[in-house]
Amino acid sequence: QKESVVLGIETSCDDTGCAIIDSNGILHSETLLSQNVIHLRYGGVNPLIARDLHRDNIELAVTETLNKASMRIEDIDAIAVTLKPGLLFCLQIGVKYAKYLSKSFHKPLIPIHHMEAHALVARMHHNIDFPFLTLLISGGHCLLSLVRDVDDFLLLGETLDNAPGEVLDKVARRMKLRNLPEYSVLPGGRAVELAAEKANNPYKFHFPIPLNKMRDCNFSFSGLKDVLCRYLYKKELEHNIKGDEIIPEHNDLCAAFQLAIAKHIVHRTERALRFCIRRNYLPEDEINLVVSGGVACNNFIFKCLEHWGNKTGCNVYRPPSKLCTDNGIMIAWNGVEKMKKSNCFTKINLNNIDPVAP
Ligand code: KG4
Ligand code: ZN
Repeated sequence: QKESVVLGIETSCDDTGCAIIDSNGILHSETLLSQNVIHLRYGGVNPLIARDLHRDNIELAVTETLNKASMRIEDIDAIAVTLKPGLLFCLQIGVKYAKYLSKSFHKPLIPIHHMEAHALVARMHHNIDFPFLTLLISGGHCLLSLVRDVDDFLLLGETLDNAPGEVLDKVARRMKLRNLPEYSVLPGGRAVELAAEKANNPYKFHFPIPLNKMRDCNFSFSGLKDVLCRYLYKKELEHNIKGDEIIPEHNDLCAAFQLAIAKHIVHRTERALRFCIRRNYLPEDEINLVVSGGVACNNFIFKCLEHWGNKTGCNVYRPPSKLCTDNGIMIAWNGVEKMKKSNCFTKINLNNIDPVAP
């Protein structure tokens, strides 16, 4: 059987991603036009600036991806595009362009759920059968879900307030880590991770574990951020910190904060796993967990999950770093997976495809 080729487009946040993957799982090419450096200047993603940059970049990203694969749009069999969730204005740019390609070149369109794509991309590199558990931790999301099939997800828990990447970014900004040259262009979470590695005493500051008594699988990170801000305020007064100065204990504070985040994440994942086993949702002989999203790049958090997995009998997987953060490859891959499962997308009416806010 002739292989099919899918072009994937991702514009849900601040990266314009595009990739071409065939039904054998071969990646032909990819492009990622990141806006990270621009948004750093504003201290976070500005949705309208992000939309304008996607608009400037979308055609370039698609053309570059086709050129790198030595393909023309005629060689593509289907177009996959992120429909939700994400920043509405940004999603609209990708969806509009995908619809234009689909109409002009008579190519079927495959609408993709961004979070499902994060979870499934692990199957590109690892042999992970359904059902499996997934933990998606990023700057915009935090959820635990049971993945029963390509298009069958059962949400087990999500954050009640902030996402972990969001608090890591806010905390890095509040601690002024960016004033240190070694962290100046890094995402907040990465800066906290590196600072934590230099800690003298990771137990110097105490953080309570959120939702410790709650018998569900939800998360809450905003309380941890508040505790950190209180410590910071106290230390800034104590050391008479002014302007751009940073408290001397910042490494210890980052380590304790990161440890609390990791403990909370492991605790909630443990609950989700127990729930699934109790309900017979997961096979007892082979339990798999896929961790993805930008915060999954954090080696400390991942190692804590792996350590827990070893004790519990759960295999813990994460895609390579560049597939944990937003990218076009996961969208094209999800398109391939959906196409293999069924040709349901051929019935899609383009007029019904519109991005949906979270
Ligand atoms: O998945 P992503 O690229 O975008 C979405 O939010 O969807 O994730 C970005 C988030 C940011 O909050 C960033 O601080 C965090 O991932 N991040 C990290 C690390 N690298 C990126 N958090 C912790 N440790 C890291 N090494
Ligand atoms: Zn994402």
